[in-house]
Amino acid sequence: MRKGLFSKLLATFTVIISITFVMTASYLSYWFEEYYFDQRKGQLSTESQFISEAAIQYLQGNILTDKMNETLKNISDYLSADIWLADSYGYIYAVSNNSYKNIIGTQILTDELEKLRSGQTIEQKGVHGNIFKTPVHTYEIPIFTDEGSFKGAILMNTSINELREPLNKVYHIIWLSVIFAIMISCIIIYYFSQRIIIKPLEQINHVADKISKGDVDKRVDINSNDEIGELAKSFNSMADSLEAVEKNRREFISNVSHEIRSPITSIKGFIGGILDGVISNDKQNYYLSITYEEIQRLTRLVNDLLDLSAIESGQFRLRIEEVDINEIIRLCVIKFETKIKEKKLNVDVFMEDDRLLVAADRDRINQVVTNLVDNAIKYIGNGSNIKIISKAKGEKAFISVYDDGPNIAKEDLNHIWDRFYKVDKSRTSKISTGLGLPIVRCILTQLGEDIWVDNKEPQGVMFTFTLRRI
Ligand SMILES: Nc1ncnc2c1ncn2[C@@H]1O[C@H](COP(=O)(O)OP(=O)(O)OP(=O)(O)O)[C@@H](O)[C@H]1O
Ligand SMILES: [Mg+2]
Repeated sequence: MRKGLFSKLLATFTVIISITFVMTASYLSYWFEEYYFDQRKGQLSTESQFISEAAIQYLQGNILTDKMNETLKNISDYLSADIWLADSYGYIYAVSNNSYKNIIGTQILTDELEKLRSGQTIEQKGVHGNIFKTPVHTYEIPIFTDEGSFKGAILMNTSINELREPLNKVYHIIWLSVIFAIMISCIIIYYFSQRIIIKPLEQINHVADKISKGDVDKRVDINSNDEIGELAKSFNSMADSLEAVEKNRREFISNVSHEIRSPITSIKGFIGGILDGVISNDKQNYYLSITYEEIQRLTRLVNDLLDLSAIESGQFRLRIEEVDINEIIRLCVIKFETKIKEKKLNVDVFMEDDRLLVAADRDRINQVVTNLVDNAIKYIGNGSNIKIISKAKGEKAFISVYDDGPNIAKEDLNHIWDRFYKVDKSRTSKISTGLGLPIVRCILTQLGEDIWVDNKEPQGVMFTFTLRRI
């Protein structure tokens, strides 16, 4: 991952930055060259006025050749240019540098004369028919008397190499700066992309790898306030839920194993005793009946577990139909008649009407009512009271199962819906598994309904759930 993303980022940024810098540098170089030549031209023009005056004086015979040559020489030195003077036919009659004496009398200007005559200046680059060995920049300026008559031209030649020397220095600085800037940018990009993107991604990847191998308590430590920070936060909350699921799974397995182990141990003990002859023949029936009860308990446990997992995974397709909840309550009370009589309980059923129609799955809702009534009977003492109330309120039907047994402690209230949770582990361990309420809640959640429990004063517990009326 690192190589791919990192090199792509680096390449993209470097290309963008290089293009930007190269474009800027080219523009800067171009602009500087223009500026430099303009300056040079300005300088040449200014100085040409003195030459012009001297030339006119010379042509009019007011000054001698020596004097004029001296003026040319001085200005030539000052401008680092070879200065020639041509008459109105283009013939050279004076040069600033004696090495070019041989061209005196040569007609250098021909085609340009027309332009010069009309007052234009001319700029050229070249070797002037091999007079110069290296290319020169020539600036030709016409000479006019005060009356406006054309008296020839000044030719100012500067070696292009010499002209370019300072320019090259500037180019050198510009391009070195560009290379330096690109290198610095690359280092900054490298550092920041490592810090902002690559390292955090590597960390997330590393932790994800650890978690996938079972280290579910590992977390990412990134607190940046950007998308990567958000990703890290989401990743950590995903890891939290994974950890919770994993914890749940472990607890569940340990609970199931524990619930299964105790009946199996007693079954094994009793049957072993019978086979070994430790249990005498007349007591065998008694122990076999205990074994039978244990097997029934195991069967119930397995059935409850299967129900729960089927409901949770959505495999139980609810068959929603019109159900008379009052009818279900009546049948349920009849079903528990024997137990009610055994414990001498008072069971009162309050109904507003004969029928209360709701939309539900008949078998599942029967399971809900049965579990709640079973609990009420189980957790109250002999001779206590149970009330079952069904009420219609707007769109909803409210069904409550009340018993006047002891309150459920505050710390247990939130846990009674957990799988395998039993308030009194010792007393109820033989008769219950702690799966009733989780199944009840699961069924009602699937129906989109609610269930809650209230402790009543001075004592008593009331479970209430809702159903949708039709
Ligand atoms: N009506 C009630 N009064 C007092 N405590 C109750 C009542 N109903 C449930 N409880 C408490 O809640 C716990 C969980 O109930 P739940 O129905 O889930 O399991 P159970 O009755 O112990 O086992 P199972 O229903 O699987 O036989 C019970 O162990 C009990 O302590
Ligand atoms: Mg129960």
